[in-house]
Amino acid sequence: MVFDFLVGRSGDLAIDLGTANTLVFAKGRGIVVNEPSVVAIATRGGKPQILAVGEEARQMLGKTPESIRAIRPMRKGVIGDFEAAQAMTAYFIKRAAKGRGLRRPRVVISTPQGATPVERRAIREAAEGSGAGQVFLIEEPMAAAIGADLPVTSPRGSMVVDLGGGTTEVAVLSLGGITNAVSVPVGGDDFDEAIHGYVRRVHNVAIGEATAERIKREVGAALSPDPQDELTVQVSGRDLISGVPKAIAVSESEIADSLTEPVFAIVEGVKSALERTAPELAADIVDTGLVLTGGGALLRRLPDAIRAATGLPVSVAEEPLTCGVSGAGRALSELKTLKTVLQD
Ligand SMILES: Nc1ncnc2c1ncn2[C@@H]1O[C@H](COP(=O)(O)OP(=O)(O)OP(=O)(O)O)[C@@H](O)[C@H]1O
Ligand SMILES: [Mg+2]
Repeated sequence: MVFDFLVGRSGDLAIDLGTANTLVFAKGRGIVVNEPSVVAIATRGGKPQILAVGEEARQMLGKTPESIRAIRPMRKGVIGDFEAAQAMTAYFIKRAAKGRGLRRPRVVISTPQGATPVERRAIREAAEGSGAGQVFLIEEPMAAAIGADLPVTSPRGSMVVDLGGGTTEVAVLSLGGITNAVSVPVGGDDFDEAIHGYVRRVHNVAIGEATAERIKREVGAALSPDPQDELTVQVSGRDLISGVPKAIAVSESEIADSLTEPVFAIVEGVKSALERTAPELAADIVDTGLVLTGGGALLRRLPDAIRAATGLPVSVAEEPLTCGVSGAGRALSELKTLKTVLQD
C-alpha cells in the first residue's frame, strides 16, 4: 500500500476546477474531461434538478426561460455556489471513472494561490462529497508550472503567470515550493466585461456574454496591431436606440483599446511579484524569463505587453489551457519527486 502510494496508482485523477473550464486528467489516459464550468438547473416544482453540465449547459447561458437557471458555480477562481460546484465535480468524476469500476479514486485538485483556508476547505469538501477517496490539494500556479515543464524542484527560480477566467496568478517557484506570489483579481471574464461595456458605449449595441467572449477570441489583443494586419469581426446584438437586432463590425484596435485597464492590472501584478522576488531568484528569472499559462495567455500580443513593461523574456506554454491539469496529474503520478508540491 505504501509502495502503491509512492509510485502512483491507475485510477488517480487530477481535477482543475476553473472559473471558465473544468478539466479532469486520468493517470494513463490523459485528459478525459474538458468542459465549461457551467451547470443548468431546473427550478420548477420542489427539488432543484440538474438538466445539463458542461458544454450543453454553456449553450443555455443567457437563453434560459424562468424555470431553468444556467449557473457558473466558480467565480474568481473560488466556489461561488457550493451545491452546483459539488454537483458538477461529482458528474465529471463519475464520467472520468465510467466503465472502469473506479471506486473512490485518489484525487488531486488545484486551488488558487489566493484562496483562503475556508475556500480551500470548500474545494476539498466538494471533491470528498463527489466520490473521491484520498484528496490532495495543489496550488494552481504550481500545477501550471509543472505542466509547462518548468524546473520547479530545482534550486532555480521560475516565474509563471496563469491567466484564467477569473484571476491571474503570478508566482515564483523554486525547490518545489512557491517563494512569492501575487493574485490579481482580473482574468478573462474581465476582458469579456470590458468588451461588453465598450460595444455598448461606442456602438450603442447590447451583446451577450458569449458574444463578448467570441469577439475576444477572434480579434482580442493586448496592444494594437499594425494597421495593415488589422482583424475585424462581425457580431450582432440589440441596438440600444431602436431596440431591434443589429449587426456591427468590431476591429482589433478597438478591442485593444477596450482592454487597456485589465491588461494594465495584469502587468502591474507581474511587476509587483518581481519586486518581491529575492535577488538570486530574480537573477534566474532574468535569464529564463516568465511563462504564460491559462486561456488568457492566448490573447494576441499579451507577451509583448509584458515584455515591454518588464524587459524580461516572455513565452507562452505549449498547451496553455490544459497545462494546469496535466501538471497536477504529473504531481500525483510522480509523487516520489514531486511530493513537496502537494498538500494533504
Ligand atoms: N484565444 C483566446 N484568446 C483570449 N482568451 C481566450 C482564448 N481562448 C480562451 N480564452 C479565455 O481563457 C479563459 C479560460 O482560461 P482557463 O481555462 O485557463 O481558465 P480557468 O482555469 O477556468 O479559470 P481560473 O483559473 O481563473 O479559475 C476564458 O476567459 C476564455 O475566454
Ligand atoms: Mg485555471
